[in-house]
Amino acid sequence: MPETIWWKTGTVYQVYPRSFQDTNGDGVGDLPGITARLEHLAWLGVDAVWISPFYRSPMADFGYDVADYRAVDPLFGTLEDFDALIAEAHRRKLKVILDFVPNHSSIAHPWFAESRASRENPKRDWYLWRDPAPDGGPPNNWLSNFGGPAWTRDEASGQYYYHAFLAEQPDLNWRNPEVRAAMHDVLRFWLERGVDGFRVDVIWHLIKDEGFRDNPQNPDFAPHQPGINRFSQVYSCDRPEVIEVISGMRAVLREFGERVLIGEIYLPVERLVTYYGPDLEAADLPFNFQLLETPWQADAVAALVAEYEAALPEGGWPNWVLGNHDRPRIAARVGDAQARVAAMLLLTLRGTPTLYYGDEIGLGHVPIPPDRVQDPWERNEPGHGRDPVRTPMQWDDSRHAGFSAVEPWLPQTEDAERRNVDAMRDDSRSILTLYRRLLSLRRDHPALSVGGWRNVPLPPSLATEVFAYERFEGDETLRILLNFGSVERSIPLEDDAAKQETWSVLLSTRPGRAGEATGNVLHLSPDEGVVLRAHPSS
Ligand code: NOJ
Repeated sequence: MPETIWWKTGTVYQVYPRSFQDTNGDGVGDLPGITARLEHLAWLGVDAVWISPFYRSPMADFGYDVADYRAVDPLFGTLEDFDALIAEAHRRKLKVILDFVPNHSSIAHPWFAESRASRENPKRDWYLWRDPAPDGGPPNNWLSNFGGPAWTRDEASGQYYYHAFLAEQPDLNWRNPEVRAAMHDVLRFWLERGVDGFRVDVIWHLIKDEGFRDNPQNPDFAPHQPGINRFSQVYSCDRPEVIEVISGMRAVLREFGERVLIGEIYLPVERLVTYYGPDLEAADLPFNFQLLETPWQADAVAALVAEYEAALPEGGWPNWVLGNHDRPRIAARVGDAQARVAAMLLLTLRGTPTLYYGDEIGLGHVPIPPDRVQDPWERNEPGHGRDPVRTPMQWDDSRHAGFSAVEPWLPQTEDAERRNVDAMRDDSRSILTLYRRLLSLRRDHPALSVGGWRNVPLPPSLATEVFAYERFEGDETLRILLNFGSVERSIPLEDDAAKQETWSVLLSTRPGRAGEATGNVLHLSPDEGVVLRAHPSS
């Protein structure tokens, strides 16, 4: 019986609110801007929009440092603007997913002010305070993900507080039941306003080792890596007790019917899949970032997909991510031609796909001049900053590409005059058209949205360059062949003489092939991907 729950059949689109649409002329995107551009999402054919944080914040980490979990930062608008956004999204049958940042608050959150006030304050235990080591230094060897120690000493009490990210982002103590209850109420606040789910920030960080043991050295550390990689994060995150915490959040979501809990988790596949929970009562979708980290080679990606499919627990729903606001853009990683193959991969694999804004127009790496650096991580550890993947969306060929009337907070691509939604919308060869066709194909073919997946083995000489698999549901079989290489390939299609299937092209990353009958051999151009449909011969 095919699945029909929206977050299983649908596609998620991530909006980074600073960079989607500015409506008040300050060079930074805002909530009314997102509302104004919902039409684009409906036209494109996605089902849900996930909006990165817009809560009240001093913006030390651009909103991932929350000072009030129930308020909209004036930079982005008002609560009324949010209500209008959600109403308009729902009117267009788009779901709205918020970013929930429970691991840490801002240093400016009133909870932290209380916690810091004295060792006796009732909220002292809401954060993670420890005495100095005997030499007066930090309590253990844990490091910040943004460089430097993860402990900051508070002069008043002489104790250190823990922060997995910036010193302005103190970690909350999720072992404390009062913290859990307060955060559950935050979830209810937004659920009552109609949100359809949450993407939960660094969910695998929520619980730390009770004894705060030192992390072990990482034998594979290389100097070009961020400092955090010096140690394996064995005790500072991914602790077994976190599953129960996630289940607690999920239970709150279920008070409101079918809402989705997506967990941000950077872990290897065998650890990642434990976040569904032993009885599937933890994360609905533990975000699968494996495509962001696997070398862009057909055999490596094929092995990854097979590994992930095999590792999923019974009933666990898969998902795939090709880009986000923290990792290099796909077009920058693999180039324009392969970005099209990547789009076909993302939208034909089994499981919920998440698209990152701008990938549909092939936004690539935007160099950031030193005087325009925004990301604090770039200042701490040059070369690791995320500004190049957060540049403003490009809508048309006007000044600032229709994003803003004034110079945007980050630069745009040099080819913005051509690389924009307006210019690509009616161009049958554009990557935007390809994305739209893929999304409509996924919608029209249950084999793609809910069907099964199986690998199609190819001769070894082809398998290093071409990844082939099938999706199937009922009596429909689709075969996807993706050429990761820059050489033309001829692929034999008859693997089962008894079936006597013939094939035709449903969609190619190259325009103009749809409808073509293939014969027994498919010729794949360099950098081409195709979706074929099987026709049983009579
Ligand atoms: C993960 C978010 O995606 C990232 O942007 C942020 O800096 C850290 N969590 C800290 O909240």
